[in-house]
Amino acid sequence: MKINRKLLKTLIVGVFFGWLVSSCTTTDSAMKKEAAAPAAKAAAEMAPAKPKGVRSPSMLANTCAGCHGTDGASAGDAMPIIGGLEKEYLQLVLAEYKSGERDSTIMGRIAKGYSDNELKAIASYIADKPWVSSTAKADKKLAAIGKKIHQEKCKTCHEDGGRVQEDDAPRLAGQWPDFTMIYLKDCHKKGRRCQPRKMGKRVSQLSENELRAMAHYYLSEK
Ligand code: HEC
Ligand code: HEC
Repeated sequence: MKINRKLLKTLIVGVFFGWLVSSCTTTDSAMKKEAAAPAAKAAAEMAPAKPKGVRSPSMLANTCAGCHGTDGASAGDAMPIIGGLEKEYLQLVLAEYKSGERDSTIMGRIAKGYSDNELKAIASYIADKPWVSSTAKADKKLAAIGKKIHQEKCKTCHEDGGRVQEDDAPRLAGQWPDFTMIYLKDCHKKGRRCQPRKMGKRVSQLSENELRAMAHYYLSEK
């Protein structure tokens, strides 16, 4: 508590000083703006009320729709459905894309375009949307093979056919099989992050055909 209060004090003093400097010592308006910028930024981050000009979560999430579909209901193939995933999971994933901790082809660059607070707002917005399962048709034979493997190796963390989301495990049921396949195949790549470790170990023991079976099994549980 003590530290927090100290930090707050420092910030308040900083903001006030920034304002003082900007309003008293310069007459040129461009310079004034420049001097006030860091203070204004600190103030914006501290202020509980939304300052004018801030983009709303729905506006922010508009960018995502180009790839992940309206409200995260992706229309296909390799693009994951994200609408209705849990807020905590989305927050974690987006933060890790931004920091580079999580491997990605595209998302790292996209996440870097937002402030931490904006990413949190986007996560809440998308989490509130309903999950809309893929319209792809599952291959029944593959799905049957996948079901067996699921019951042996996966269901402790992905309960009810992958519908249950807990302990940071996202929904798998109804996901586009191409995305599931890409994710699982990445687990086979050396040096690639595949967590939790228990899952990484189990997934790495599966053949490519078995991975495809997993993807079709989860699709069949939509
Ligand atoms: C240009 C296309 C594109 C855009 C725009 C885009 N994404 Fe993605 N997203 C992807 C791809 C591709 C992946 C798979 C990871 C990768 O390779 O980058 C992904 C993965 C994700 C995942 C992980 C899903 C999972 O279950 O593992 C989340 C969450 C996500 N994106 C959220 C967002 C949000 C929020 C936005 C908007 C701020 C966004 N994406 C914008 C292409 C995109
Ligand atoms: C010890 C618990 C655990 C086990 C066992 C486990 N998983 Fe997972 N799984 C998780 C967690 C946690 C995540 C989220 C990981 C992350 O942050 O990317 C996850 C993510 C996934 C994803 C990525 C989904 C997405 O939208 O990004 C797939 C696919 C998956 N698991 C499939 C499997 C399969 C197939 C098995 C069995 C061979 C399995 N899991 C076993 C906990 C587990």
